Amino acid sequence: MVNTIGKPLNRVDGNLKVTGGAHYSAEFPQENLVYAVGIPSTIAKGKIKSIDMSAAENLPGVIKVITHKNAPELKPLKTFMKGGTAAEDYLPLQDNSIHYSGQHIGIVIADTLEQATYAASLVQFTYEEETPIVEMQKHRNQEFVPETVFGKKPTVIRGNPQAAFNSADVKVDETYTTPTENHNPIEPSATIAIWENDTLTVYTSTQNTYGTRKALATTLEIPEENIRVVCQFIGGAFGCKGAFWSHMLLPVIAARQVNCPVKLVLTREDMFNVVGHRAETEQNVKLGATKEGKLTAIIHDGISHTSIYDNFVEPFTVATHMLYACDNLQASQRLISLNRVTPTFMRAPGEASGIFAIESAMDELAYALKIDPIELRLRNHANTDPDENLPWSSKSLKECYQIGAEKFGWSKRNPEIGSMRDGRYLIGMGMATATYPAFTSPASAKAKMLADGSVVVQSSTHDMGGGTATVMAQLIAETLGLPFEKVCFEYGDTRLPRAPVSGGSMTVGSVGSAVYGAVKGLQAKVLELGGLKESQSLTIEDYANILQKNNQKQIEIEYDAKSNQEKEYSKHAFGAQFVEVRIDPDFGEVRINRYTGAFACGKILNHKTARSQFMGGIIMGIGMALMEETVVDPNLGRVMNANLGEYHVPVNADIPNIDIEMVEETDSNVNAIGTKGIGEIGITGVAAAVANAVYHATGKRIRNLPITPDKVM
Ligand code: MOS
Repeated sequence: MVNTIGKPLNRVDGNLKVTGGAHYSAEFPQENLVYAVGIPSTIAKGKIKSIDMSAAENLPGVIKVITHKNAPELKPLKTFMKGGTAAEDYLPLQDNSIHYSGQHIGIVIADTLEQATYAASLVQFTYEEETPIVEMQKHRNQEFVPETVFGKKPTVIRGNPQAAFNSADVKVDETYTTPTENHNPIEPSATIAIWENDTLTVYTSTQNTYGTRKALATTLEIPEENIRVVCQFIGGAFGCKGAFWSHMLLPVIAARQVNCPVKLVLTREDMFNVVGHRAETEQNVKLGATKEGKLTAIIHDGISHTSIYDNFVEPFTVATHMLYACDNLQASQRLISLNRVTPTFMRAPGEASGIFAIESAMDELAYALKIDPIELRLRNHANTDPDENLPWSSKSLKECYQIGAEKFGWSKRNPEIGSMRDGRYLIGMGMATATYPAFTSPASAKAKMLADGSVVVQSSTHDMGGGTATVMAQLIAETLGLPFEKVCFEYGDTRLPRAPVSGGSMTVGSVGSAVYGAVKGLQAKVLELGGLKESQSLTIEDYANILQKNNQKQIEIEYDAKSNQEKEYSKHAFGAQFVEVRIDPDFGEVRINRYTGAFACGKILNHKTARSQFMGGIIMGIGMALMEETVVDPNLGRVMNANLGEYHVPVNADIPNIDIEMVEETDSNVNAIGTKGIGEIGITGVAAAVANAVYHATGKRIRNLPITPDKVM
């Protein structure tokens, strides 16, 4: 028996990545490759009046300039919110209207990137400019109720929340805001498009190969079989590569017009403009409780922004539905349309922003009641899902509080505000609850055993760096009893069986269930061939013997796994975040001193890659807490910090040692392999834990992220 599950094995692609052998989407060499560069609009709202491209067209190396005047007509796409795979309704270069600053209003194709970049700067546009709608606050009169909040009703009511709040012994009623944030993967979105007659090959950095193929087929009106989408390595994504964006069509259109492969790599500035972001939110939270600290009312209500042309809802209330036991609850959301690109998923969309508000409010309630924040949460622990009225498939939140508190040293915390110091620095400790759903979607996998007993399993999923390929190989090796080196997992190509978007922390659960089903099926087939019983455990030599005796070069099987959304159990991962901050009282600078995160996410397939996933989420949460904010000029509607110099993400110097505790669960109800996703839960609750620690240190309750020194002073 080979034991690989859970082991902290190195990534199977680690060597390739550190030696430069891994090819990212922009790095697949093509003969006769030419370069496309997008031309950004300089206004946020209006119409193009005229275009002069003569200067650009006359430059050496320039092959073509494409604008709405000579672009092909594209068929409409459905967004994710409406059951499609597109991130936005908008299609590029279809007419002269401008909806946001930086919108691509043309592309230049040239022999080199430099020529295309320079030529793009020479295309002259004149506009009929209109005043853009930029600030959510100034346009409150235009708010509206969306049809759904990620499939849930935009207003959810349990019991009689308003009456319960009005008559509560103790109340919290506060408003919290979170700014727009942008994803900053080191690899920007990149696409190479190659047409051969009527077939299209696209190398593109995506979390959704099949979704990309579907969108391309729909908008270009060609059969899906004629399109191949390849995405082998992803240099970070976080949700911004989860759905199909209009920029992916530009090299596709161009390649068809210029008859050679075309590459488009977005600039860092493009990444802030033509790709969505985490929407801004303003959230009011009302908590009512008894003197004993039992929640009697939760009212969570607020707004987020969307674009002019789509309704994307940042689902910040969905976690509130199920976080605590409370008979009286109201959660409602509204939208405001702005002249911005459509917002999109960003690591724990909804939970990251919503849990900041609700877990800050819980801390405020703990102070109002003079109850320890963990104790308050335990008194309101939801033993069943209060929203779905279902038992949990498993829930180890209490263990997370306990183990997290022990490892962190919560008992050393003096609850009095401003009581803890390190020399001239103020010390604060804060905590918060983390949670994220354990979804899966339908996925398929094909498993092949070769004559030597080695196994290849294929599914067109993605490895964003989290370790998908590594943990799938562990699952295959363990299930079949094969040495780790004798199994291989292939992914990232629509020639392989279908897999869902790698989003919503559902890759391992979904694809893992398909892989597990396929290798179990393969094993059964081989055992049957060898005339052996199902329970027999074999070595690689045994497998090879069976194939050879039966003259089989290869045995294969395909397996389709269903989603786990049948309604017997409510499926969620939980965790607890603990942070110690050190604050400079003179400058208001908040530094993270120590961090402990304790998470219960079912079975852990690889302790090394899992730890990195949790840490990555926490680091992104520290960015959310202390630094990340996309600043938009209120008049121009233009992103003013569309670069890594002015949009601050955490760097090594900002991050202390992070202690990750994993509370393993045996959960046979969650899915076939007992895992819960771990990509997103790490960020949830971090910003609240930090804000709560800042309050503990200073007595300043900062309800508007990020917690920058000016707000602390
Ligand atoms: Mo993640 S925001 O679901 O890609």
